[in-house]
Amino acid sequence: MARILLAEDDDMLRRMTRAILEMDGYEVFAYPNGQAALEAFEQINPDLVVSDISMPFLNGFQLLEAVRKLYSGSVVPFLFLSALSEHDDVYMAKRLGVDDYIFKPFQADDLLIAVKSRLERRRAAELFDSHQAHLQTITLLANVIEARDAYTRGHVERVQQSALELGRALGWSPEDLIILEFGALLHDVGKITTPEAVLNKPGPLTPEEVQIMRNHTVAGAHIIESVPHLRPAKPYVLYHHERWDGNGYPEGLTGNEIPREGRLMAIVDVYDALISDRPYHKGIPAEDALNFLRRGLGRHFDPNMVQVFIELQMKKLQQTS
Ligand SMILES: [Fe+2]
Repeated sequence: MARILLAEDDDMLRRMTRAILEMDGYEVFAYPNGQAALEAFEQINPDLVVSDISMPFLNGFQLLEAVRKLYSGSVVPFLFLSALSEHDDVYMAKRLGVDDYIFKPFQADDLLIAVKSRLERRRAAELFDSHQAHLQTITLLANVIEARDAYTRGHVERVQQSALELGRALGWSPEDLIILEFGALLHDVGKITTPEAVLNKPGPLTPEEVQIMRNHTVAGAHIIESVPHLRPAKPYVLYHHERWDGNGYPEGLTGNEIPREGRLMAIVDVYDALISDRPYHKGIPAEDALNFLRRGLGRHFDPNMVQVFIELQMKKLQQTS
């Protein structure tokens, strides 16, 4: 339930405004002047403020100015209840960062619509901010891991982009695409446990080293499992080296037994590895990499997914040529 701080010195109007808001399901904390509202602000931590302008002790402008200086009040939506005679004060209020005006006398709907739309915008902004912060943290983590691996600079972010393009082309839901967005970044998170000497060995690996290298899938899944909000990315981490014909690792799953997140990741991961320069081989041209994928259709890769991926890449190649 959203919490609304109300400051209004007119008893009648305060009671009426409170009743309108409470009838619509809001929790209202009402005060007869700006000073009392300000003193209660931090304890209440409201989601929105509705304030009169002319009030004793601290008027609406002074309340707005004081609230904006508080850490928890800097972005809280602030609405003025204003008499028409205060029209000239609009400029002043805008400069102080007011979000909206409701002119007295107002209808219940005028107030409720203004409150609802401000709260929704605030919620959307918060969701966007926390999603961005979440992604930035994961990008940082992915870049830290990648920095240990001399062969894969720029790989994770490129792979994330083409994974997203493929997910969209396959018609995955927005919720699935949000998980894909960080799952693709994290797919090699287990490499944090791979010794540098194995990770950056220039020549072929011994059978033991191959096992150590392969362990990054299982090790990554363990890391992911311990963090609840990252857990949905586990199939990307655990299954991106499985193969359609069952010759992959760590579980040797076959065909549709492999979670689709792993099947998708396998395609974009291999494709990016083929077209990128490595110390022991130069990246191959995109056309040749696509032919490699075609040959792997039904052996290494999910035949339907790889078809969609190839079409996407062909379109891109045509656009750039
Ligand atoms: Fe990997």
